[in-house]
Amino acid sequence: MAERSSTIDPSAHPGAPRADDAPWEGLLANLPGRGNVSRRQFIKGVIATGASVSAFAYFAGPAATSARASVPRLVSINVNGQTRRVDVLPQETLAMTLRYKLGLTGTKLGCDRAECGACTVMIDGVAHYSCSTLTQRVRAREVVTVEGLESADGTLHPVQQAFIDELGPQCGFCTPGQVMAAAALLEANPNPTREEARRAMSGNLCRCGAYDHYLNGVMRAAANGQAVAEEVSNG
Ligand code: FES
Ligand code: FES
Repeated sequence: MAERSSTIDPSAHPGAPRADDAPWEGLLANLPGRGNVSRRQFIKGVIATGASVSAFAYFAGPAATSARASVPRLVSINVNGQTRRVDVLPQETLAMTLRYKLGLTGTKLGCDRAECGACTVMIDGVAHYSCSTLTQRVRAREVVTVEGLESADGTLHPVQQAFIDELGPQCGFCTPGQVMAAAALLEANPNPTREEARRAMSGNLCRCGAYDHYLNGVMRAAANGQAVAEEVSNG
């Protein structure tokens, strides 16, 4: 049986590496302006480019550092209706501040890169990923976390109650983010269609796959809200 050759036929693939080439020779041959540049010259060029980048970082570094240093670190932020003074690094995310400086661990960290929604909080009534929001950017704004949703007498927010009634949470890790996304939706649109609710909740992943339960919860909370509104308007 003929052995499978691992050699690429150069006539079929011009510029492909030959058996006697260094692995990158074929690639170098195709570089624009390659001309008679030797491998040694090419490598020297790469090293020179790296040195320029490093030099730029070296010289720009102090300027960047002083810009960061000019940001005041002791800031006041409004969280759940209270003004909290907190020492915040310039690059610190709101999720880190909430969890590790203010003790509000209801806000979960899943991916920490704006993909899962576990860290969702409301900022000025709109759902935001707190893992991708700098705390320094929320100084003049109102932040609400899952701890701030229930009333002073301990009555749960309608979304929280509806999620319980619909058996939404499975492991519960994504639940605070789901609650905040749903609460923000109903604040903006108290009577959404199921499709609107599905779209509004699409930024919140659930590893347990409890999506329909959460969606049922959103629709139940909306229906309960409508019933209460009608009761009030009928006197
Ligand atoms: S932790 Fe923020 S989106 Fe995943
Ligand atoms: S309930 Fe487990 S991740 Fe959503």
